[in-house]
Amino acid sequence: MQPFEFYAPTQIVFGPETQLQTARQILAYGGSRVLVVYGGQSAVKSGLLDQILDNLRQSDLPYEVLGGVRPNPHLELAREGVQKALDFHADFVLAVGGGSVIDTAKAIADGAANPDVDIWDFWLRKAPLTRALPVGVVLTISAAGSECSDSAVLTRDDTLEKRGLSTVFHRPRFAIMNPELTFTLPKYQVSCGIVDIMMHTLDRYFNPVTNNELTDEIAQGLLRCTIKNGRQALAQEKDYQSMSELMWAGTISHNGLTGLGNRQDFAPHQLGHELSAKFDVAHGASLSAIWDSWARYCVDTNPSRFAQYGVQVWGLDPNGKEEKELALAAIDATADYFRSLGMPTCLSELGCGVLSEEVLEDLAFRCAFRGTRTIGTFKVLDQQDILSIYRMANH
Ligand code: NZQ
Ligand code: ZN
Repeated sequence: MQPFEFYAPTQIVFGPETQLQTARQILAYGGSRVLVVYGGQSAVKSGLLDQILDNLRQSDLPYEVLGGVRPNPHLELAREGVQKALDFHADFVLAVGGGSVIDTAKAIADGAANPDVDIWDFWLRKAPLTRALPVGVVLTISAAGSECSDSAVLTRDDTLEKRGLSTVFHRPRFAIMNPELTFTLPKYQVSCGIVDIMMHTLDRYFNPVTNNELTDEIAQGLLRCTIKNGRQALAQEKDYQSMSELMWAGTISHNGLTGLGNRQDFAPHQLGHELSAKFDVAHGASLSAIWDSWARYCVDTNPSRFAQYGVQVWGLDPNGKEEKELALAAIDATADYFRSLGMPTCLSELGCGVLSEEVLEDLAFRCAFRGTRTIGTFKVLDQQDILSIYRMANH
């Protein structure tokens, strides 16, 4: 077992009607003036936003609202939110939504606690983040895991850069998780969420360290559970059992537990972020569109790891099979599953068409931060490797 540190302090409040505990939780964490952040329409249409605001009023908690967060959230709205939080003297930021809303709330919390620093400087690592306002979450989609993660991802509109920032200050104080709030999700978003949940564990599972047995067992169990309940959630709408399993899996998959002691890879995420930034595609779809090519490009680095994944997660029978054969069957099984969810496994299925060589080169250049970084740990990928993977997915 490898050495590790683990600190995941977010309080989970899980179950039906838990959104009615929002004000109580905010007060418990010292909030007295709340900026409530939400997305486009879903929280308004479902009545959830009204319910939350009513809950705050009943506890005499003053609030201000900021709506309009879009998927792949933009830096500009976060900057607007910082100003709003400062004008209102907010001391707590509440996110009502999914990853995009939560990440915007985290960015606002960073900016409002550091009014003299432009938040993008934190994302560029030009300024160190040493404090942030507390953030709470009412989760409405099982996917990004931002409700407990230490990360927040923003896109800058003018340069189309999509960047993440991981810091202990991005761990929310509490996450209210009522699976019934996900019943209004379109099937496409449920599918995107299933892919993202799987990828947060896969991007940790494929790494150069192989002697963390318990971590592997947790990862494999989470993947099996997500695959099974993903099928069930799509087959039967408003199914509490499967939606609750997905919600909990989404949190555990990205709070760090499924990669403890490992050197996380996350190359598929970096490859996907460039696609989301350039074509504004859903995060989960960007991941399934690239994973198959990433896996086939990297399989020879450690075929036995892929074979283990095939046997333990997909139930492949190892008898009489070569490692490489099992490894490729595991990749096939993953791609087949993504297709069964209606998710893309190449760029044309992602909806951006077959791209020109010039566009692929630009994607690789951006993903390698203009030739200044490599990505991944399972197989370290430089700009040329990145370009090769985009080429493989370009059909
Ligand atoms: O804007 P509204 O109208 O609310 O619609 C949203 C949005 O269109 C809709 N939705 C959410 N809950 C709903 C609902 N529709 C009906 N009923 C509900 N209950 O779903 C759409 C997608 O929402 P979004 O918040 O974008 O989804 P997700 O949770 O997948 O978040 C994606 C973002 O998170 C980032 C991604 O890159 C992307 O920007 N990630 C954040 C991470 C983190 N902070 O730890 C890690 C991830 O790897 C990821 O990068
Ligand atoms: Zn993700």
